[in-house]
Amino acid sequence: MTEVLALRKQFLNPAIFLYYKHPLMLVEGAMQYVWDETGRRYLDGLGGIVTVSVGHCHPHVVAAANKQNETLQHSTTIYLHPNVALYAEKLASKLPGDLKMCYFVNSGSEANDLALLMARAATGNYDAIALRNGYHGGNASGMGMTAHSVWKYNVPHSFGVHHALAPYPFRGPFGYDDPDAGKKYAADVKDIIDTATPGKVAAFIAESFQGVGGVVEYPQGYLKNVYEYVRAAGGVCIADEVQTGFGRLGSHYWGFETQGVIPDIVTMAKGIGNGCPLAAVVTTPKIAQALLGKVHFNTFGGNPVVSAIGKAVLELIDKENLQANCVKLGSAMLAGLNNLKEKHKIIGDVRGRGLMIGIELVKDSTTKAPASAECAQVVEYARDLGLLLGKGGLWGQTIRFAPPMCITQADVDFALAVLDEAFGAL
Ligand SMILES: Cc1ncc(COP(=O)(O)O)c(C=O)c1O
Repeated sequence: MTEVLALRKQFLNPAIFLYYKHPLMLVEGAMQYVWDETGRRYLDGLGGIVTVSVGHCHPHVVAAANKQNETLQHSTTIYLHPNVALYAEKLASKLPGDLKMCYFVNSGSEANDLALLMARAATGNYDAIALRNGYHGGNASGMGMTAHSVWKYNVPHSFGVHHALAPYPFRGPFGYDDPDAGKKYAADVKDIIDTATPGKVAAFIAESFQGVGGVVEYPQGYLKNVYEYVRAAGGVCIADEVQTGFGRLGSHYWGFETQGVIPDIVTMAKGIGNGCPLAAVVTTPKIAQALLGKVHFNTFGGNPVVSAIGKAVLELIDKENLQANCVKLGSAMLAGLNNLKEKHKIIGDVRGRGLMIGIELVKDSTTKAPASAECAQVVEYARDLGLLLGKGGLWGQTIRFAPPMCITQADVDFALAVLDEAFGAL
């Protein structure tokens, strides 16, 4: 451990950060659990940052990867391979409407970069609208669409991108008690189109729930209204499903479905590959036509091994009823957290759906001053008790719980008991 830390300090990108005061080294995983180098087990309440969907080293995923690794590890789209074709067919079958054309890449940042290119090529417009408090990646265009200062370097990366008001009922101007909040937040997008663009836009992009921003679900009607404004201005609508897709929200397979809309372009990463470098953009045949003017190529995108893994993940979500498990255990977790909210004044808001849950901490329920230090303390304390959690929100004030979708009631009971103790120790 000491040697690994020293090597990391000497040879790895110094801008990365470690979560805990005493760094945690994970060396093994099985389903919802991970183990450190001393053999201590933890419940992975963050799922490798919302990435391990069906379970660490799930035997079906491992078998699919191993079989393909032994047959042919690499091939690209200049040749035919059955895996990528069969996988694309299966992935497309999970999407509604005309969303049938799949592009495979390696990360969420790349997927969003491609989606923006596609939108600009398809519409002939340049301006894009994203949301404040949103996260879309760390490459130049992902950073441009992201709206948290902590991730944005001082380079001109946001040209043509406008950031609308975050539809964030707990902190924004229109709260949970406002039945028209969705419409009111959407009006800001219309205002941006009218005042900050030529009246025509290429795209609107939003996470279906904000993840890094602290698990923010938009008020009902928000995306419906926004999509109408954007389409009327010639734009296409992009749903970033990097964290919300593949059944995690329980009530729906895709996050955008919770708002009753169908996007024109969907981007996916993280849970799609259960921890392997697989990401995708899915769009309509009509929009796909726009990229035909040039060759589009991605060396690793849809390679035979990751395609086998992606297909195994889709099979498992269905076969093991993981979406239903997210409903059942997400509801149990939310109910337990709402009880804790009554007991611990620091909990300002409990929110989320399925197994994508946020607990926003405030120093004072009236001012809502973010309780960032306390959030870090709870996350540290929970780790000592064997539970790994995440931090989100602009000030790191929101605890995130997004475990692999295969957790059990016993895991929920354990997580709630740990949180109760951790809040009690503040
Ligand atoms: C919603 C969302 N979009 C895009 C990304 C970028 O994905 P990646 O880190 O794979 O580039 C992330 C990563 O956290 C994300 O949460």
